[in-house]
Amino acid sequence: MTSETATILVTGAAGQIGSELVPALRENFGQHKVIASDLVEPKADSLREGPFEKLDVTDRVQLETAIKKHKIKRIYHLAAILSATGEKNPVKAWEVNMHGLFNVLEAARELEVKQVFCPSSIAVFGPLTPRVNTPQDTILSPTTMYGVTKVAGEQLSDYYVKKFNLDVRGCRFPGIISHEALPGGGTTDYAVAIFYEAVIHNKYSCFLRPETRLPMMYMPDCLKSIIKLMEADFSQLRHHSNFNVTAMSFSAAQLAAEIKKHRPSFEMSYQPDFRQAIADSWPESIDDTAAKEEWNWEPDYDLARMTVDMLNVLQEKKNQGKLVYPG
Ligand code: NAD
Ligand code: SER
Repeated sequence: MTSETATILVTGAAGQIGSELVPALRENFGQHKVIASDLVEPKADSLREGPFEKLDVTDRVQLETAIKKHKIKRIYHLAAILSATGEKNPVKAWEVNMHGLFNVLEAARELEVKQVFCPSSIAVFGPLTPRVNTPQDTILSPTTMYGVTKVAGEQLSDYYVKKFNLDVRGCRFPGIISHEALPGGGTTDYAVAIFYEAVIHNKYSCFLRPETRLPMMYMPDCLKSIIKLMEADFSQLRHHSNFNVTAMSFSAAQLAAEIKKHRPSFEMSYQPDFRQAIADSWPESIDDTAAKEEWNWEPDYDLARMTVDMLNVLQEKKNQGKLVYPG
């Protein structure tokens, strides 16, 4: 897609990933070629600098009106309810994650949108899945409504690829760590909150047990994976909507130890809650060979490099009085 032809819609743009994907896409394709949309007005300054549509993805008419108005040719569909919020309100998770995706795929088919990106998640896996180096093609047995919607979403997306030749792509993201927008209610959110709490209070009470090990990725790698997958030659892809991707795996205690290398007086305590059961059902580590083979996926950040960057950026924001955190 060239900057002359690209007109892109990002749903759920005010969230953790959208707040950084939109500026990255605007950098590549031009400020006014990327239409950010969400139920809520974006907080991030970077999103206020270009076009924004208030849009509920469960409302097909609103969605199609925006696609027609802006002559959209590519959609990054990020609007979703994540795992922890989804367990509190499974009906809403089904409504937003399934009806939202169905509306996006149908609207894309009918209105000749060329390409759709829809993220999946490690939440597609479950207690019956091998937990270490989880294979690309394996048992999908989620225990959360979020995971159920992500499995169904992958299947639905692949159906549109096969049945209608619609170009739909997606990665199974692990926990995403970032410093622009706070996460929206997932089980891996502790790995973001810990950095804010370390910089603000020098201590953190974690909602997972110390030994809980999960796959994770720093936001620059998340953005890199989205951009690389969308640029890949469609004819070379054997998978479409369900690529395993990862960058690192660590336990809550290992993350605390890494932070302590830079802030020796940092204190971590543990008060596991309902999210522990969700984390226990997910993989510890992921095999992303298919992504490496099919579109040359390679992450740049490991635990040590990510930790240094997160602490530096958040400390700088704090020094400038710009660190916004509700805790
Ligand atoms: P987020 O919760 O931070 O943002 C989601 C956004 O969707 C929010 O801004 C919310 O207002 C919006 N939204 C909710 N309902 C909507 C509706 N009906 N219509 C329009 N917008 C609506 O989520 P995120 O972390 O940015 O995740 C984006 C995508 O990536 C999701 O599909 C999520 O499942 C997936 N993912 C995220 C992670 C992660 O760690 N962040 C990991 C795996 C997969
Ligand atoms: N980070 C997400 C969550 O915890 C994984 O999809 O819900």
